[in-house]
Amino acid sequence: MKTLKTQVCIIGSGPSGLLLSQLLANAGIDTVVLDRKDRAYIEGRIRAGVLEQGTVKALEEAGVAERLHREGLAHDGFELAFDGDRHRIDIKALTGKTVTVYGQTEVTKDLFEKRIAEAQRFFFNVSEVAPYDLKSDQPCVRFRHENEDWTISCDYIAGCDGFHGVSRNAIPSEVLRTFERVYPFGWLGILVDKPPVSPELIYANHERGFALASMRSETRSRYYVQCDLRDDPADWPDERFYEEFARRLGPDVARTLETGPSFEKSIAPLRSFVAEPMRYGNLFLAGDAAHIVPPTGAKGLNLALADIRILARALIAHYRDGIDAHIDAYSETVLRRVWKVERFSWQLSLLMHQFPENSPFEKRMQRAEFDHLQSSETASRAVAENYVGLPLE
Ligand code: APR
Ligand code: PHB
Repeated sequence: MKTLKTQVCIIGSGPSGLLLSQLLANAGIDTVVLDRKDRAYIEGRIRAGVLEQGTVKALEEAGVAERLHREGLAHDGFELAFDGDRHRIDIKALTGKTVTVYGQTEVTKDLFEKRIAEAQRFFFNVSEVAPYDLKSDQPCVRFRHENEDWTISCDYIAGCDGFHGVSRNAIPSEVLRTFERVYPFGWLGILVDKPPVSPELIYANHERGFALASMRSETRSRYYVQCDLRDDPADWPDERFYEEFARRLGPDVARTLETGPSFEKSIAPLRSFVAEPMRYGNLFLAGDAAHIVPPTGAKGLNLALADIRILARALIAHYRDGIDAHIDAYSETVLRRVWKVERFSWQLSLLMHQFPENSPFEKRMQRAEFDHLQSSETASRAVAENYVGLPLE
């Protein structure tokens, strides 16, 4: 059995775990990061691509925003489309803020590069990861790595191991509460090296289903259509995808659609999920380990990194100033914001998709909500305020 000591043991090397290790390293706090996959695998995962202003600021403060500033695209607004009618949410005019289009994959690469350059201790391809003694002042994490058993003892454990990780279930079942809604459809997404069909994102609700026109750069587009959960990407050759996508966006937009061979095609289910509490003893949950939002509104990464900013502040207050009030308030502080972001992602999902179970009444309700957004600056501002990111408190 090999042993190691650190201040904070971070389980999971996705964007949450990586940003936490960076922020703590910047404050002189020692961490070890474990992941059941390796760097190449983690960097290859395709995820969303819209960063809130606060997320950008956090990446700047962490010292990993140089390429983001060079390559990211600032967006002042986005569009909602409903059966061919379009409504632009001018987020800049409504909130004074903007969002930045930059892939989560790129954020992950930038974080990895800096952590490796600064000699962060990582264990990749670990198995049998198990957090122990969470209520003691020396919790530990046991795991297997290259045919050896390891125990890392630490002051705190950060569970940043995503929805399928082990940290959440290390909280005793009589303490843990979970809340969930699963949506009856998926998103089929493609990446293609063609300029975006429109300079801003368009979220469209059409009688045949939702579609989203997004992008990664001025030459790379990311497009989605709502699909059946039983579909397989192979059911959707590019021609079928583009035909359906064009129909749902409507003829005005479709006129400028440039098609080409897609180089990534996958189906993601949609889920809303929250686990409470987000702290148990000296274990903290952050990011997808504690909550999932449907992708409508692009909140997943932003919400995860907001948790990390709050957790890093709390841990820094403990180590630097000897103040534990922020650690004690972590779960409550973070969950209050989490539920607001869950609400926004859920509501935008309800507005923008075709639900098989929706009655004609509910369809009229969707239309009325869209009409209200079109005619009310106040209603549009509420959407904009959520889209650019709620304050951290
Ligand atoms: N032991 C160690 N590592 C694990 C374990 C485990 N038992 N289970 C999962 N992991 C690792 C995964 O391999 C992954 O690299 O934890 C990491 C979790 O990363 P993400 O799933 O990316 O979660 P997070 O870092 O919280 O990122 C937030 O925002 O847009 C959303 O879902 C999107 O990934 C995104 C998330
Ligand atoms: C994406 O570009 O992948 C994307 C953008 C906005 C969303 C979801 C995904 O709401």
